[in-house]
Amino acid sequence: MSPASLRAGNLIRGWMEDAGLRTWVDQLGNLHGRVEGMNASAEALLIGSHLDTVVDAGIFDVSLGIISALSALKVLNVNGMMGKLRRPIEVIAFSDEEEVRFHSTFLGSAALAGVLPVTALQISDKSGVTVQDALKENSLEITEENLLQLKYDPGSVWGYVEVHIEQGPVLEWLGFPLGVVKGIAGQTRLKVTVRGSQGHAGTVPMSMRQDAMAAAAELIVLLESVCKNPKDFLSYDGHCNDISLESLSSSLVCTVGEISTWPSASNVIPGQVTFTVDLRAIDDMGREAVIYELSNQMYKICERRSVSCIIDRKHDANAVVCDSELSSQLKSAAYSALRKMAGDIQDETPALMSGAGHDAMAMSHLTKVGMLVVRCRGGVSHSPVEHVLDEDVWAVGLAILAFLETQL
Ligand code: GLV
Ligand code: MN
Ligand code: MN
Repeated sequence: MSPASLRAGNLIRGWMEDAGLRTWVDQLGNLHGRVEGMNASAEALLIGSHLDTVVDAGIFDVSLGIISALSALKVLNVNGMMGKLRRPIEVIAFSDEEEVRFHSTFLGSAALAGVLPVTALQISDKSGVTVQDALKENSLEITEENLLQLKYDPGSVWGYVEVHIEQGPVLEWLGFPLGVVKGIAGQTRLKVTVRGSQGHAGTVPMSMRQDAMAAAAELIVLLESVCKNPKDFLSYDGHCNDISLESLSSSLVCTVGEISTWPSASNVIPGQVTFTVDLRAIDDMGREAVIYELSNQMYKICERRSVSCIIDRKHDANAVVCDSELSSQLKSAAYSALRKMAGDIQDETPALMSGAGHDAMAMSHLTKVGMLVVRCRGGVSHSPVEHVLDEDVWAVGLAILAFLETQL
């Protein structure tokens, strides 16, 4: 809901219309472009991705997903094939996936999937502006009732497909431009607030301090140790069996990406520190076990340091398994695109797990989901140096076109 995101929405809307789609913006700010094909009442194929980005982002997460779908549809439109589609195709540019402003992910897609609680409208940003207020500032009046009405009828939807940059190094390492996603890691976001005793940096002896910053530092180092070596913190019998501990160890990642301190002055012992924790794993039970153990150990550290500690769970999404049939159709589409570009292809399109979160996670509550990912340089994403080769953009556009052609 920033001026930049509105400008991006308007631009994409023009491109949707240029590709022959009927467009509208729903009350949560999601932009839709739809073509009915031969049978407007058939189950629709939804293709989406989000329009928002992180702060200091690259340009491919995530416009690539929307633009590749639009360019493929435009080819069908130019070739006069839109009316021959067996089912409606709807491209959706979701309004908020990254959680940058409201600390709650998938606001746009969760509403359409019917899993966004009405309380989400009252989540506020750092300046106290709620989701509802931010939408109102942009002439989008949303109430609890019409939020519930945004949910799509599962019977009206055939499936959901998303294209995204890989955001990791595997495809580059394999030397392959495209991959199919087998599943997406589950994630939890926490907000940890540590309260100590604010005081004068020059007068309070070290032994008499309740320094919220020093306590937060110890909690963050603990978090890193737990996520690097969960085996050292979780017991085999109490928390997990050795198989799930093995899979947890290979996929568990934790990040503290945002921290704020009060009153934030060099000559004041901080009275309060707040930081976020982003924790992900393929194994949902393992993720729960880590959060349980981590919280226990954090409370112990806070007790020893005589500071208080509040751990708020801000967001949870379970791991998602992509639909095998949809994945094999996407795999064939990727194969035919690469053949078109390079002639003979020996290797199979790789199938990967995605550590990054995607709108497909929310949409999996509504319908079957499938994803194609595109190689990115050095596996770097959420950074301005994020980069995708032009020919890989072309490859994924051709792959989506090949996939759409199976709907003719
Ligand atoms: C979205 O990009 C996420 O995985 O945080
Ligand atoms: Mn992202
Ligand atoms: Mn993304």
